[in-house]
Parts: sequence; structure tokens; C-alpha cells
Amino acid sequence: MDGNGRWAEKNNLTKIQGHNQGMYAMKEIIKRSDVLGVKYLTVYAFSTENWKRSTEEVGGIFKLAVKFIAQELKELHENNVKVNILGDYRSRVPEDAVLSMDKAVETTKNNTGLQFNIALNYGSRAEIVRGVKKIAESVKNGDINVDDIDEDMLSMNLYTGAENGNIPDPELVIRTSGEERLSNFLLWQVAYSEFFFTDTLWPDFTPDEYEEILNSFGKRNRRFGGR
Ligand code: FPP
Repeated sequence: MDGNGRWAEKNNLTKIQGHNQGMYAMKEIIKRSDVLGVKYLTVYAFSTENWKRSTEEVGGIFKLAVKFIAQELKELHENNVKVNILGDYRSRVPEDAVLSMDKAVETTKNNTGLQFNIALNYGSRAEIVRGVKKIAESVKNGDINVDDIDEDMLSMNLYTGAENGNIPDPELVIRTSGEERLSNFLLWQVAYSEFFFTDTLWPDFTPDEYEEILNSFGKRNRRFGGR
């Protein structure tokens, strides 16, 4: 969800107002995902690198996260949406935001509709290191042998793995605002994903543009290394 800052600047608003507008854009994309029957939607809301931003901006983003859950949880739940959090959100994230996220996960845990994953204090390299450590512990404890380690095992030990119900690898990654980078997002999981980059700044990203991208994705020929 890139471009909130530039959108704010363009519109003579504060960065937080930009993130606030970004939150509305996110809400609309969730709704359209639900309508279109998308099974999993993952948003990169806060990366492990985002702590480098000003205290004011970081605090503002988490306040928005609390506001989002307070305003939207009821409707998400009524629409059978299941909320999941990916990342080390318990360690550094403000207490009220952790409580909001936990409440959203707990309330929606038995829902069977769209699964909405929020990557929060998420970094993919840290996720892989954490997964490798968990596997190493199992070897140390004698629960598994080194030869048992395979790709599926590493997948299962990532945030997207067993602890969150084994979320399938993303079929499609969309990055807004003209940047063409992964920025430490789901590095392991995107091995065969399709990528779409749009110049649209995130707050201007509409459900219609999203749907166009999904339609265009549907026409791509995915070979997964085959012919
Ligand atoms: C990137 O834009 C956006 C973010 C770092 C924050 C996105 C957060 C939200 C939309 C609200 C969070 C809501 C929940 C539920 C967690 P940028 O600031 O990097 O834009 P720029 O590159 O133009 O400066």
C-alpha cells in the first residue's frame, strides 16, 4: 500500500491524513475482494523497517490501525471475513494496537469467508530466520532429523504457515505508487507469484483498478517453470 506520503504531499495534507485516506482505500479493496470471491488478501501495513520513521508518524499509523478495527470489525465479522496478523506484532507495537489486533483475530477466528491478513511489524528475512530457528530447535530436541527438512517444512514454519492455518502462496502481488521493489515482503512465498506495478498512489487506488488488474492477471499464462 505504497504512496500515502506522496498523496498527502500532493494534496497539501499531513502524512497521517495520507495514511488515513490509505485506510479508506484499503477498506474498499477488502469489500471488492469479498464481492469477487478472492480467498486471501494480504496487506503490507507496517514493515520492520518502518520503525525508522518519526515517532509521530509511527504512532499515527498504529492509532489508525486501532481506529480501523474499532470501526470495521463488526462489519468484517458480519461478512464472514477472517482476520489474521502476520509479523512480530506483539514485541514492539503499542499495547492498544496489539489488543485491537488480538480482538479482531479472536472474534473472526471461525469465519470461513475472505481471509484478510495484515502484515504488521513484518519483515520477510526476519520471518525466514525465525522459521529456521524453530526447525533447528526441533532438530536439537530430537523431534526431527536434518534429512526431514524440506521446502514444505520451512513454509510451515513461516508466519504464513501452521500458526496461521497454512496460507497458500500469493498468486498475485500488486504494488502501487510506481516503486518496483519487494521491500522484504513474503520473499519465500512469492517464488512463483505474478507481479503488477501501478503508478497510482495507494489512496487513489480504486476497486475498479484492482478488478482490472485481477482480470489482466486471469489472462496471464502461468507456467511455474514448466512449458
Ligand atoms: C506506505 O506509504 C504506507 C504505510 C507505511 C502505512 C499503511 C498503513 C495504513 C494504510 C493503515 C494501517 C491499517 C491497518 C489496519 C494496520 P508511504 O508512507 O511509504 O508513502 P510514500 O512512499 O509516498 O511516502
